[in-house]
Amino acid sequence: MLEEETQKSLDSIPTSKVKRAAKIIGTSAKVGGNYIKYFAKKSINSSLTKDSLHEENAKDIYKSLSEMKGSALKVAQMMSMDNSALPKAYQDKFSMAQYNAPPLSYPLILKTFQQFFGKKPLDIFEEFSKSAVHAASIGQVHRARIGLQSFAVKIQYPGVADAISSDLKLVKPLASQLLNMKASEMKIYMDEVESKLLEETDYELELRRAVEITSASSEIRNVRFPKYYPEFSNKRILTMDWMEGAMFPEFLKSNPSQEVRNKIGQAMWDFFLFQMTVLNRVHADPHPGNFIVNSENELCVLDFGCVKEIPTEFSQPYFQLLRPEVFQNEEQLIELYEKLGFFKPNDTPKQKEFLQEMMQQMISLLGKPFQSASFDFGDDAYFAKIYAMGENLSKDKELRKMNNARGSEHSIYIMRTFFGLYSLLNQLKANVQLNYPLF
Ligand SMILES: Nc1ncnc2c1ncn2[C@@H]1O[C@H](COP(=O)(O)OP(=O)(O)O)[C@@H](O)[C@H]1O
Ligand SMILES: [Mg+2]
Repeated sequence: MLEEETQKSLDSIPTSKVKRAAKIIGTSAKVGGNYIKYFAKKSINSSLTKDSLHEENAKDIYKSLSEMKGSALKVAQMMSMDNSALPKAYQDKFSMAQYNAPPLSYPLILKTFQQFFGKKPLDIFEEFSKSAVHAASIGQVHRARIGLQSFAVKIQYPGVADAISSDLKLVKPLASQLLNMKASEMKIYMDEVESKLLEETDYELELRRAVEITSASSEIRNVRFPKYYPEFSNKRILTMDWMEGAMFPEFLKSNPSQEVRNKIGQAMWDFFLFQMTVLNRVHADPHPGNFIVNSENELCVLDFGCVKEIPTEFSQPYFQLLRPEVFQNEEQLIELYEKLGFFKPNDTPKQKEFLQEMMQQMISLLGKPFQSASFDFGDDAYFAKIYAMGENLSKDKELRKMNNARGSEHSIYIMRTFFGLYSLLNQLKANVQLNYPLF
């Protein structure tokens, strides 16, 4: 899983603002001025003809983002989740961000341990792997042991937390171009992302949320969680049980039977829908790197770093949109669009009509799994329709003219969670029972 070229261990990461800016500028220069324009404007529709250019660019960008780690890499990860927004080469390269980033050297790990525990790893554990067994976006994971118990110890790269705001300032112009939104209008959305990224750097918060969500979800069938150890954890170090099993992609490669795929898919669906409908907070990072399948074919869920708290003032009207009787009732629909900030006070009737049609199309397609007792996520034709819709929307002239941001900031991570979940279930080709109606 680890790639040679990216796996040279680093003794430091560029954390000062100037160094990071230089890194981004350096990369941009390499990639060429025209490229950014191309990236923003053309990437969405005509990727095929420029595959090799994309390949090269993706490599350079990925390399510098992974050296920077932290929020820049997180943004890359998020972009890779939205299959329709990036050409294939970027998708492939950026989805690597979900697994690899160059590991930090042991002396730097020792320093972090000393700083936050006042102890060395071997003062706490009987065994501790000198090199990382897994590296991810803002932390790396070492394996440790006391007696018969194996632990996963996640250690955060130093400087990440401090770098987030300045990182986002660098990413904002690119994001605003990509999304075709004015910077001022993007503020509430950027604030939402920024606060989530900051939360992700607080491993004490991650531990609290992990313990709360996993204990509340203990009855969900075929789902397993590691136990978390507050006594071996702090703001930058998080210790939990080591989970044995195959990472999700390896599991898929092992050619599991339909029965097993359904079992894992159902466990995943139940876990996420239970959180959305009962807990009002959700693990908002469902991507392949956060799941392990154990030898009993149970789903092990990792990484509660990104949790979205769902205010009911938002979810109530939002999920109402899926109700067939609401969906048929124009008056009620319009009321909900206004409540959810999807319609703006100075929209023209023509714009409203256009937006309404678009919403209609999105809701009926994305809400389809909630309209019957079971749904087959292996239906590739369904996913082809979703991607085609994404593509059409991104090309839509009318929509691009209305370059203002719309909708509640809460929908960002909810949509991200659903996209991630749908995509994993599609990879599983799982047929799932609804079990937890959203409305
Ligand atoms: N408890 C665990 N048992 C086994 N592997 C783990 C465990 N926790 C994390 N990992 C591995 O480490 C990787 C990074 O951990 P994760 O918590 O997802 O970090 P990040 O928050 O940086 O994404 C995971 O993708 C997984 O491969
Ligand atoms: Mg993760």
